[in-house]
Amino acid sequence: MALKTVLLDELRDMYSAENQLVKALPKLAKGAKDKALKAAFQSHLEETKGQVLRLRSVFALLGEKPTGQHCNGMEGVIEEGADALEKDEEGASFDVGIVGAALRTEHYEIAGYEACIAMAQGLGERKIVSLLTANLREELAAAKKITKIGVPLIRRSSTEPEPEPKPKTGKEKYSAKKSKEDETKASRDL
Ligand SMILES: [Fe+2]
Repeated sequence: MALKTVLLDELRDMYSAENQLVKALPKLAKGAKDKALKAAFQSHLEETKGQVLRLRSVFALLGEKPTGQHCNGMEGVIEEGADALEKDEEGASFDVGIVGAALRTEHYEIAGYEACIAMAQGLGERKIVSLLTANLREELAAAKKITKIGVPLIRRSSTEPEPEPKPKTGKEKYSAKKSKEDETKASRDL
């Protein structure tokens, strides 16, 4: 596969990932209880919309369409975030779960942009490198900001009482079964 084809593949994944986040970030902003965390998600939503536009410019430079591929990875990461929003934890502990989920989305994007930038550099596409670097910088800054907001939340969460154990939901039972299967499969190779 030629490098440009691989890059286009990765970029279409990123385009889908960013579009999925435009839909998911308002849910995280609505679900978060902490004001600073809510505001961070709101401002990153605005940045994310700009990132979608930068990616469109990248595709225009390549003379290609941005659509054509759904990012399953981001879909999974967002689903983990949706799980965090369904938890029964109270107060800061609830927000700590959301911080963890949000950091996964940011680091998924960071990895994606770093790979795309390296490929665009390999192709000598300087304009594309600079557009993608602008997106990467925003992701790095967002991850840093969310991590910082998480520090006092973790401190508060550490003093909150453990919730009463509850019977597992169907989804949790399925997840526990799959986790056991993962362990069994891996154990042969350990
Ligand atoms: Fe993004």
